[in-house]
Amino acid sequence: MTVDHGVAEVLLDEATVQERVAALGAEISADFEGREVLLVGVLKGAVFFMADLMRRLSIPCEIDFMAISSYGAATDSSGVVRILKDLDANIAGRHVLVVEDIIDSGLTLSYLMRTLRARRPATLEICALLTKPERREIDVPVRYVGFEIPNRFVIGYGLDFAERYRNLPYIGVLDPDLVTAATSGAP
Ligand code: IMP
Ligand code: MG
Repeated sequence: MTVDHGVAEVLLDEATVQERVAALGAEISADFEGREVLLVGVLKGAVFFMADLMRRLSIPCEIDFMAISSYGAATDSSGVVRILKDLDANIAGRHVLVVEDIIDSGLTLSYLMRTLRARRPATLEICALLTKPERREIDVPVRYVGFEIPNRFVIGYGLDFAERYRNLPYIGVLDPDLVTAATSGAP
């Protein structure tokens, strides 16, 4: 299999990702039977996963988005989070499912959950496509997980490195030489 430039290895191919997304959609549809769910996507990485997941839901659902930025190095989260775009919807009394691309340290999502919980949704759950358990610094209760992956920097299917590679239809491991090039010489 030929691999795109910047990709060291394909970790999860397109068929594997799509199959898992379909299974998650079926599971969520069963769990939320009889309820309406508001999917809250975290921009920008979750957009691709969320669009596919939503098409696998058989329950009434709506979407909304938040954009947050964490101050940190290119491949590390600092836990200091700023809301760049807030939700349009009032989530009080609603069934909210936060959709994330990946949970790494957990710091970003932990902050986000605290913020959302204060708005009194009826239920608040997380669905993350990927999780790196080895990297977790703070416990986040994740109800739905696509895949547990090893501690490697991944790109594709929404995940970026310096805003690139989101369009890859699979999840790949970033060529480690690129990480070194981006982080060395940083101020
Ligand atoms: P956390 O706060 O450390 O959990 O970081 C979560 C965010 O960091 C994710 O939403 C991604 O935007 C980014 N991130 C963490 N690991 C990766 C990765 O392997 N590839 C791409 N982005 C990542
Ligand atoms: Mg993200």
